[in-house]
Amino acid sequence: MTFTATNNPSPSTVAVIGVGYVGLTTAACLAHLGNRVLAVDVDAAKVERMAQGIPPILEAGLGDLMREGIHSGRLSFTTDSEAASSAADFVFLCVPTPQGADGAADLRFVEQASAQIAPHLKPGAVVVTKSTVPVGSAGKVVAALGRSDTAVVSNPEFLREGNAVHDWLHPDRVVIGSEDRTAGERLARLYEPLGAPIIITDPASSETIKYACNAFLAAKVSFVNAIAKLCSAVGADSVDVIRGMSYDRRIGADHLAPGPGWGGSCFPKDTSALIRIAEDHDYDFALLREVVAANQAQFDFVAEQVRRAAGGDLEGATVAAWGLTFKAGTDDLRDSPALSVIQRIRAQGATVQAFDPTRPAGSNGHLAGLGVQLFEDPYGCCDGASALVVLTEWPEFRGYDLSRAASVMTRRAVVDTRNMLQPAVARAAGLTYVGMGRT
Ligand code: UGA
Repeated sequence: MTFTATNNPSPSTVAVIGVGYVGLTTAACLAHLGNRVLAVDVDAAKVERMAQGIPPILEAGLGDLMREGIHSGRLSFTTDSEAASSAADFVFLCVPTPQGADGAADLRFVEQASAQIAPHLKPGAVVVTKSTVPVGSAGKVVAALGRSDTAVVSNPEFLREGNAVHDWLHPDRVVIGSEDRTAGERLARLYEPLGAPIIITDPASSETIKYACNAFLAAKVSFVNAIAKLCSAVGADSVDVIRGMSYDRRIGADHLAPGPGWGGSCFPKDTSALIRIAEDHDYDFALLREVVAANQAQFDFVAEQVRRAAGGDLEGATVAAWGLTFKAGTDDLRDSPALSVIQRIRAQGATVQAFDPTRPAGSNGHLAGLGVQLFEDPYGCCDGASALVVLTEWPEFRGYDLSRAASVMTRRAVVDTRNMLQPAVARAAGLTYVGMGRT
């Protein structure tokens, strides 16, 4: 059955605390399913823009869903966590859990939010932890709430940035961790319309599933980055090798594309946190430590490819970079591998001229201090460059005129870290082509 807001037999009232990409997507999708949703954020200016249907982030389909919810009256935005939590059957905690100095996730915002909503919750309300939290955190939320008449349920998210709305509405599975079976089942009913498998387990297992998935996916990317290097060494073609691997259903095609290393707001933070969690329980997760080290080495490797492509010396050279965001489909620069690579190129004395289709310069301060010159167009950014490096897999790069880019470069070479350009087209444009393990 296709589920729509109009045939939801038992809509709930939901408060979402923290409106980042997880909170906002959750709020908009729950409203789409017919629930009444109050989304709470501390940033009044952001709340005002969102109330007008303007998403603060680039996320496919999110604006339309927000506007649908606002116009139907089911979705509203507020800074008033008291009003929102006192009305709610479910309160979703979607606040950030940044990486602390010691690698562990910092639970400050989760605990603060819990303490803030505690006095206002209705008896029987279910508090849902969506933020990625260390194993055992459910107990800390219970303690911060200090309420025996409410339940705390872990419900990790598996949303990819850029595909968050799609992933929310079409999940591979929903994971629920609860000591209180009834509360777990109540939350499961909220997701039932999606028709996905629902796993109800204990909170520690639920919290571990989230970390295990991100760590496994990061390891998969690092593995394929290593295979691409092996392909170069043995003269195999990584594109064909990976295609051959991907048809094996036990391996699958996802997270099997080589790149400049993995990054973003989740993999780096969650791999470090899981290593730390293991350490805290006297388990040395050496395999995962190696994955993290391999990823750092990948940034060095790409910078080295660029140095060679630029003629062997980056001192005083100009390098053009296409792509700054940590992947395509998002304007997020957090822990972007592109920035890690650029930092290494800059450290060797090069000037970096960058272009990104989202022009993220104005949107945050990540580029400040990195010494990157941002260009408005992809060709201007190549002016005077002795190498071009493609760092993000924006599909539009495939349509760019490589001859035009080459014509303004002083030395003609392209390092395609995403294996997304056609080598023959690059060569026809006069560029020396360097891919990831491509013959
Ligand atoms: C990741 C997970 O995929 C989500 O399931 C999870 O919910 C989310 O983290 C989270 O914890 O919130 P996301 O960070 O949006 O999602 O990004 P991914 O699409 O997984 O990519 C992560 C990094 O790996 C990026 O730097 C990307 O460029 C890189 N990557 C990914 C590759 O280099 N190759 C691939 O084949 C896939």
